[in-house]
Amino acid sequence: MDKHLQNKTPVDRLFASIATRYDFLNHFLSLGVDFYWRRRLVQSIGPFPGMRVLDLACGTYDVGLALVNKEARIRVMGVDYTFQMLVAGKKKLSKVGRKICPLQGDGRFLPFKDNSFDVVSIAFGIRNINPREKAYKEILRVLKPGGRFFILEFGSGRQRIWKGLYNFYLTKILPLIGGFFSQDRPAYEYLARTVKEFPLASDLARELKLAGFGKIDYFPLTSGIVYIHKGEKLASG
Ligand SMILES: C[S@@+](CC[C@H](N)C(=O)[O-])C[C@H]1O[C@@H](n2cnc3c(N)ncnc32)[C@H](O)[C@@H]1O
Repeated sequence: MDKHLQNKTPVDRLFASIATRYDFLNHFLSLGVDFYWRRRLVQSIGPFPGMRVLDLACGTYDVGLALVNKEARIRVMGVDYTFQMLVAGKKKLSKVGRKICPLQGDGRFLPFKDNSFDVVSIAFGIRNINPREKAYKEILRVLKPGGRFFILEFGSGRQRIWKGLYNFYLTKILPLIGGFFSQDRPAYEYLARTVKEFPLASDLARELKLAGFGKIDYFPLTSGIVYIHKGEKLASG
């Protein structure tokens, strides 16, 4: 792990401060629906024996674990910017041996050769990366031709869901509960703010196309609270 990357940016400091309570709060605040969202992501990816996956912004490895539990004969590289998140999830890795390899790194500067991965996934991470275009460029570089990129992310909080009930929960209730349990209310205000500012699903799809991905597709889950987007590195690209 590269110590020089430790807690240098506000995003990094934020995730470091909630790392040990991240899993509990994630499942609690989503009422456990996040397991279903990741399951749907894995279903979309369709892991096959020998597949090489880069799970970017892997946090405490929940995507990697869900993938390996579905198909044991894959290799997952789990990359995250925040050292403390990787450490917080470390216990969970003991069940899967070396199938998931953790690495501290930045999605905007990936330490991998060109054309290395069949799939790059990012769950609830792209919202935190700025500028996203830098990460897209790197993802395209490390994907094999024909390789696929999957984003699991909240839909834009500007979209009214369940007659505004969800939006009220997101902006008013979630920071209160998250703040209470994590003792870090700004972290959960940040979550609500970034979801609110995040592009609409159709705009994110356009953004992926502009970045150079092809065969773009997306669909909502749980009334559009989250979306899964997919893009491909075209063989000719
Ligand atoms: C909300 S968590 C998501 C974790 C995990 N993917 C999940 O599904 O629970 C967002 C993660 O993005 C990471 N992150 C933020 N900026 C990053 C960057 N530039 N490169 C890599 N990871 C980053 C944070 O450290 C944090 O662990």
